Amino acid sequence: MSRHSPRTWMLASALVGSLGLSCTPPEEPFPNQDELEVLQSLHTPSPLPPKDPTNKYGDSPAAAALGHRLFNDPGLSSCGTVSCQSCHDGEGRSVDTAVAEGCDGKLTGRNPPTVLNAGYSTWFMWDGRADRLWNQALLPLLSPVEMNSNAGLLRARLSAEYAEEYRALFGKLPSEETDDNQLLAHFGKAIAAYERTLNRNNAPFDQDVRRFLQAVEAGTAEEDPAYLGLKTFVRKGQCSACHKGPMLSDDQFHNIGVKDLSDSQRGVAAAATPMLDWTFNSAGPYSDAPGGIESSRLLRLRNDLHEKASELEGAYKTPTLRNVKLTAPYMHTGEVKTLEDVIDLYDKGGEPAGNYAGSVSVTIKKLDLTDEEKKALFLLLESMTGAAK
Ligand code: HEC
Ligand code: HEC
Repeated sequence: MSRHSPRTWMLASALVGSLGLSCTPPEEPFPNQDELEVLQSLHTPSPLPPKDPTNKYGDSPAAAALGHRLFNDPGLSSCGTVSCQSCHDGEGRSVDTAVAEGCDGKLTGRNPPTVLNAGYSTWFMWDGRADRLWNQALLPLLSPVEMNSNAGLLRARLSAEYAEEYRALFGKLPSEETDDNQLLAHFGKAIAAYERTLNRNNAPFDQDVRRFLQAVEAGTAEEDPAYLGLKTFVRKGQCSACHKGPMLSDDQFHNIGVKDLSDSQRGVAAAATPMLDWTFNSAGPYSDAPGGIESSRLLRLRNDLHEKASELEGAYKTPTLRNVKLTAPYMHTGEVKTLEDVIDLYDKGGEPAGNYAGSVSVTIKKLDLTDEEKKALFLLLESMTGAAK
């Protein structure tokens, strides 16, 4: 029997109790059964993102090749200078400033998340206002502060530069595509096919978790170099309450107390209804699998809007932590500059009430981490960087 089994621990506590010792009971060995299950969930993701039935071109190499060119094409923007790549560049596929600059020097309201591993997510944008990777792509194309484009400009650009590729994939020339929305949806589906190839996993973290799980089996968990980092991540820090599973995200929305006094501070509480009514959502006419499993996810959000409204107020999507070292600055505002600052924010249990809409999640509490625990957590976050391809 492993010396970390719950039974051994119970016996030890009983012994302490029966001897009438007044010292605090020994800490339960890490990991207990629940924590072990969380650790097991942190395994390396499958090499390719799960299929997206709402995009039948999602795994087409021809669509990905077209999407790659479109992603890099500033000619799709009304100002002629801004492409998707402009704000999703460099190793982290983001920018190193709090917000990014679109057409005519206009600034985005939020920090650009990485597009690495985007194919593994189910909600997009910090507030979840897109429910599929392909429909997300329409938002920056049409946004006045990003590419400031429209279906007419898109048709003209596709006709001039990509007419044959478009016809080969979608069966019509862009000029014959009379439904603007269909043209936009096809654009998004090609871009998504490309983004689904931008995967960067296999991090030192994955090896550490595998080795740590073996050490748990062998009863030597405490001697493992990853012990303190994983213990702080899973137990004292409660990070894995939200950052769990292969992508280190529960793909849900939480208010963790990030200072935001902007007009859009309500997060998902404001974004959900327009998304649920959006013609491009996964249940709508431009989806290749309207209804079915996809709509049940939307249904759940609609219910949450009624039943858990207060939890969604000021709540944002839990981002993946994979490659987080490469994507500073942090949070939806981009105002948290370093990973050390992120850890300090959690350590103090978020900013004081009044600095954001709604109230913080019950999971977010003052942590009182020691310097050693902070350091171990920092190294753990850094170790989540996948091997470059
Ligand atoms: C001017 C900068 C800018 C441009 C141009 C831009 N983006 Fe973004 N991108 C952002 C910002 C900012 C966000 C976050 C917006 C929000 O959540 O409100 C974002 C979010 C995303 C996300 C969501 C990631 C996630 O985890 O939720 C994806 C995917 C993405 N962009 C892809 C694209 C594609 C595809 C294009 C081109 C069609 C594009 N971006 C053009 C700045 C930009
Ligand atoms: C209640 C759920 C929850 C818990 C617990 C939690 N997080 Fe988060 N995490 C989030 C959400 C949601 C965001 C985005 C918040 C925002 O921008 O407003 C986030 C953002 C982050 C970011 C920034 C990532 C980026 O790309 O900007 C890091 C790093 C991070 N968390 C690490 C941690 C660590 C370390 C812990 C434990 C000490 C932790 N989280 C605990 C939900 C959680």
